[in-house]
Amino acid sequence: MGLAVALSALVLAQGRYQIGQPLSEEEVRRWNVRPSVLATGAGLPPGEGTVDQGAQVYAAQCAACHGGSGEGGAFNRLVAEPFPVTKETNPRDFAIGNYWPYPTTLFDYIRRAMPFATPGILSDDEVYAVVAYLLYQNGIIDGSQPMNAATLPEVEMPARALLQLDPTTQKKFPWITLP
Ligand code: HEC
Repeated sequence: MGLAVALSALVLAQGRYQIGQPLSEEEVRRWNVRPSVLATGAGLPPGEGTVDQGAQVYAAQCAACHGGSGEGGAFNRLVAEPFPVTKETNPRDFAIGNYWPYPTTLFDYIRRAMPFATPGILSDDEVYAVVAYLLYQNGIIDGSQPMNAATLPEVEMPARALLQLDPTTQKKFPWITLP
């Protein structure tokens, strides 16, 4: 009898399906990344990071999968000379220098999705730093100023000019209105 009471108390404590556990507030905070960062920079959080700081974040959190300096790793290449991406380009070769039209998307994506196995572990400062490092490695910024909510949206991405026009509409991104 005592055992049955104890068991039903356990079942109640674990909820209807008896699997999983409640998320802590900290876990909810890590996953609840809103709002998205837009191309204009709207939604970028406070904080900042330099290329040097980013080199450390990169070595510790990214190099194992993306290679020592952004290429040559087991997964996607992040650094490349700006060569035009075509239909034949292997998606693993879509790098920041030739494929990403907005620097702010890079922030949003890395904050949300990387490191691949443990997304959400980077602080906003660390995300700014690793974005600065990757932009520097791609030859897009000179590293003289830290990346933050003011400087990052100002970065001009070479991929914006490289992306081909939509053949039917002759517009770059017919489905959205560019800022
Ligand atoms: C465990 C391996 C792993 C680690 C560690 C990792 N990544 Fe990734 N990364 C991936 C994989 C796999 C993809 C492709 C994901 C997809 O296509 O959905 C990817 C994709 C990316 C992309 C998009 C590439 C593109 O242009 O298509 C960026 C940018 C990126 N990672 C940055 C980072 C950064 C910055 C870090 C460190 C903070 C990091 N990654 C750590 C595995 C990893």
